Amino acid sequence: MDRYLVQGGVRLEGEIEVSGAKNSALPALAACLLTAEPVLLNRVPRVRDVQTMLGLLARCGASVSQEGGCVRVAASDLTSTEAPYDLVKTMRASSLVLGPLVARCGRARVSLPGGCAIGARPINLHLAGLERLGARIRQEHGYIEAEAPNGLQGATIHFDRITVTGTEDLLMAASMASGETVLENAAREPEVTDLAALLGKMGARVEGAGTSTVRIQGVSRLRGAEHTIIPDRIETGTFLVAAAITGGDLLVKRCDPGHVSALVAKLTQAGAGVSEAGPDGLRVRTAGRLSSADVTTEEYPGFATDLQAQYMALMTQAEGVALITETIFENRFMHALELVRMGADIRIEGRRAAVAGPRKLGGAAVIASDLRASASLVLAALVAGGETVIDRVYHIDRGYEEIEKKLRAVGAKIRRVKAA
Ligand code: EPZ
Repeated sequence: MDRYLVQGGVRLEGEIEVSGAKNSALPALAACLLTAEPVLLNRVPRVRDVQTMLGLLARCGASVSQEGGCVRVAASDLTSTEAPYDLVKTMRASSLVLGPLVARCGRARVSLPGGCAIGARPINLHLAGLERLGARIRQEHGYIEAEAPNGLQGATIHFDRITVTGTEDLLMAASMASGETVLENAAREPEVTDLAALLGKMGARVEGAGTSTVRIQGVSRLRGAEHTIIPDRIETGTFLVAAAITGGDLLVKRCDPGHVSALVAKLTQAGAGVSEAGPDGLRVRTAGRLSSADVTTEEYPGFATDLQAQYMALMTQAEGVALITETIFENRFMHALELVRMGADIRIEGRRAAVAGPRKLGGAAVIASDLRASASLVLAALVAGGETVIDRVYHIDRGYEEIEKKLRAVGAKIRRVKAA
């Protein structure tokens, strides 16, 4: 397994560019299954989860080609409607093909994802929504079997809790259901809005994406389209924290500042100097001490759970005690134990972590447990004295495009050691 070796203590300086959003690319790729015509997607990040999704589309019979960030998917003849366990177990977002396959083919067989490092993460709300649209759902041998031989019918679906991929799955299914579907208590994440924009170009009739009530008038056929994926807001946030934690001066380019407002507010409160640099740039210039600022994760537009781990790394360097409350996933503090091994003072009680700082961190051998946890360990390693060895970086490869190359270009001393 590959590892990172990081020598801490370098201020990051320069310009760093954000890639397309992984969590937008994944539903966009799944949406390609809805049409027999080719779909062209630009700014698709070359990360492992995207490759897994492309593999899944190919297994369903779609023809897939990729050149740099440009991906073309042509799903004219689908030969399989199954998402097998070997793919779903490596990427839970595989369940995003459920809605499109049932809508287009009248059936789908998708492996149940099973447990996950950050929480139970069931997909019951996706299934309840599909049932509301008239699909028959059975669970057998670890698989979900969904059937709607006569097509899906529009309905009102009220999500018991806000779910991002659940909203996306149902948005795709409803696009080809007959009549009107209303999604209530829908996720408002920018990735949902981006998916709706792509579906709109494909001929779907969607209103209200980005608000908690989304209305979809189903159509019988969708066409091909071309679409550019939005910038990755979690990568953006990770770079902002990288600048702040190293006391650096970084221009984060090709981002959408509006998508990271909650983080920017916290960074500002903590004393990091963040300013807008044009319509798609953010500059962080931090001089002097950071002070602690409490955070509670929430659905968008609140503070993203996907930035909680990185923010925790930052708070180890801030004066005072920061309370970090995780409300989205029940087990998303695995990084805290590794940060403690590096010298951080973090106490966990249930869903709350108290981070006392500033603490001098020292390089240590640590293990990445999930994608964002890995990012937080890289950030901590950037300020730790000496060398940090981060094991299992395949987690970071799932969602960050060439992160070590990008960080190296702004001064970080990070290198990958390939598994023997
Ligand atoms: C998406 O996951 C993201 N993944 C996650 O990013 C992100 O952490 C999460 O949203 C929250 O923002 C993608 O977009 C591919 P949810 P998702 O359904 O859709 C519960 C990353 O690091 N729930 O919004 O799977 C669930 O257990 C990843 O890039 C149900 O109970 O998350 C959780 O507690 C990790 N039943 C909460 O809702 C369901 O049917 C929110 O989950 C669905 C969800």
